[in-house]
Amino acid sequence: MSEDTIHRATHFLSLKLRREGFPDKGGHGIVAAAPIRRGELLCVWGGRIVNRAEVDALSEVERSYVLQIEDQLYLFAPGPVEHAEYVNHSCAPNAGFSGQISLVALRSIRPGEEVCFDYGMSESSDFAEFDCRCGAPSCRGRVRSDDWMRPDLQHRYRGFFSPYLQRRIDGLAESLPSVSRVRSASSRASRRRSTVLVAAPAT
Ligand SMILES: C[S@@+](CC[C@H](N)C(=O)[O-])C[C@H]1O[C@@H](n2cnc3c(N)ncnc32)[C@H](O)[C@@H]1O
Ligand SMILES: [Zn+2]
Repeated sequence: MSEDTIHRATHFLSLKLRREGFPDKGGHGIVAAAPIRRGELLCVWGGRIVNRAEVDALSEVERSYVLQIEDQLYLFAPGPVEHAEYVNHSCAPNAGFSGQISLVALRSIRPGEEVCFDYGMSESSDFAEFDCRCGAPSCRGRVRSDDWMRPDLQHRYRGFFSPYLQRRIDGLAESLPSVSRVRSASSRASRRRSTVLVAAPAT
């Protein structure tokens, strides 16, 4: 079996990407080996669908390769780690989700640039937290399970969150009154107030 075939046994990784050493980020990462256009497919992850109890039974190292795909469902690829599993987190990412298991370029990526997504686009479980060493000026310092709740990230990554998180975000947004509803309610209230003032008999 060729190396290329081995590295694509469970996952798809674009042939424009290669693995490189990133000791500060746990060992390895993925970098562009050729120019990549915005929207290009970078990676499709595969594996077994597992629940939280099965994730808890994994070792800490195995757990770091788990991808959350639904509220209580995760994707885990047993066996040797493949190159596609080495995509690191960045607080200033150049990749995002298209569906639950595919990664696409958010912008054009130059050869030599590390390909990273924001783990807040897909992860919401406590075990996925760690101190970030992405080096971006906007680095949050720590990757947390509730990063997806941040309004700045919800705005920046709209359309590139894993669908289960986008559904949660849209659900949260629906449970809050929209700005236009708040405005029209307050203008109705002020109209009512002025009507009462005008109609009140002078004493
Ligand atoms: C899916 S693995 C990514 C590949 C990992 N670098 C490796 O060589 O095994 C996810 C783990 O990598 C590490 N990692 C990823 N991005 C990082 C970052 N920006 N800063 C520090 N560690 C990072 C964390 O330990 C995280 O749990
Ligand atoms: Zn960071």
